[in-house]
Amino acid sequence: MHYRPLGKTGLTVSGLGFGCGAVGGILVNGTQTELRRAVAHAIECGITYFDTAPSYGNGQSEQNLGLALEELHANVIVGTKVRLGTEELGNIEQAVAQSVEQSLRRLRRDQLDLIQLHNPLDLERHPQRGWLSLADVAQVVAAFQSLQQAGKVRSWGLNGLGHSAVLHQALASGAQTIQACFNLINPSAGIPVPPNFPFQDYQQLIDRAAERGLGVIAIRVLAAGALSGSADRHPNAAQSVEPIASGNSFAADVAWARRFDTLVAEGYASSLVEAAIRFVVGKPEVATTLVGISSIGQFDQALAAVNQGALPPEAAAQLQTIWQST
Ligand SMILES: NC(=O)c1ccc[n+]([C@@H]2O[C@H](COP(=O)([O-])OP(=O)(O)OC[C@H]3O[C@@H](n4cnc5c(N)ncnc54)[C@H](OP(=O)(O)O)[C@@H]3O)[C@@H](O)[C@H]2O)c1
Repeated sequence: MHYRPLGKTGLTVSGLGFGCGAVGGILVNGTQTELRRAVAHAIECGITYFDTAPSYGNGQSEQNLGLALEELHANVIVGTKVRLGTEELGNIEQAVAQSVEQSLRRLRRDQLDLIQLHNPLDLERHPQRGWLSLADVAQVVAAFQSLQQAGKVRSWGLNGLGHSAVLHQALASGAQTIQACFNLINPSAGIPVPPNFPFQDYQQLIDRAAERGLGVIAIRVLAAGALSGSADRHPNAAQSVEPIASGNSFAADVAWARRFDTLVAEGYASSLVEAAIRFVVGKPEVATTLVGISSIGQFDQALAAVNQGALPPEAAAQLQTIWQST
């Protein structure tokens, strides 16, 4: 396992991060025995970054993670989030502070290592969709800074979802980290894509963020599981998932993912999942590659892929051909 600094936060994180969301689902839908075994196993294997949010299982993920880590006396880095609802936009500072207090309680901690704004961003607020404006972000930043001064949070960041140009502007907010959607289907956050590319162009958000010293956390590395090449869902996983910045359905993403089977056929990787994870790990600006985990077996496969490191350089030419032909 490799370890990389999380930007200028002063934190160092494992190259593989444990996604505690509902998509993988073990921290939300797993039995207590199963999820505790998974967390303990991940820590034994060297994982030091766990990513959760109040909205994952409506508090369940934070609660289960907090309990498991307390039992293990584990000293790992936990990142959580705050998602502001429409009714909270009248007093953003208070809503952020309340959410952080609730997360601290559920996680059984005195200080959060990392708090991230969960809402996507656009030029204007879209309350019905939960998207915030840059003016809202300024208020969230003020709230995060006071919580930092009060010692409640150690570092803070943003979510790299929303309108691309606005996300690039938000990099100047003082944020210390950003979560960026980056995978084989839509690599635009880290690789230039052609003008006719069919999905949202994040315009190398990862590179621009890293240049400013933000720590980058890669998300949707397996396109919520579509990059397994199979539409089957594990019983612990969310049974229905919305694609982010890729096809218009999970089934469409699964079909798209099969274009990358050639990486396996050419012998660059032994499975599509391995290829997808190694592609992201190969981007040095990514501090940690989050994978949503449904089972210990899936964790072990992700770990093996991370430990293999970047795809061989010859695979890059093959990938360019696929992306240029989309
Ligand atoms: N900031 C945000 O708004 C945001 C958004 C999304 C995710 N995240 C973070 O990223 C984490 C990861 O979630 P994600 O949505 O990005 O999902 P992901 O990691 O792209 O995909 C996770 C899915 O991949 C499949 N998978 C994992 N390992 C596999 C293996 N070895 N073989 C076959 N399939 C495998 C599983 O599907 P099955 O369960 O069906 O087998 C799992 O549910 C979340 O927990 C969260 O922490 C953040």
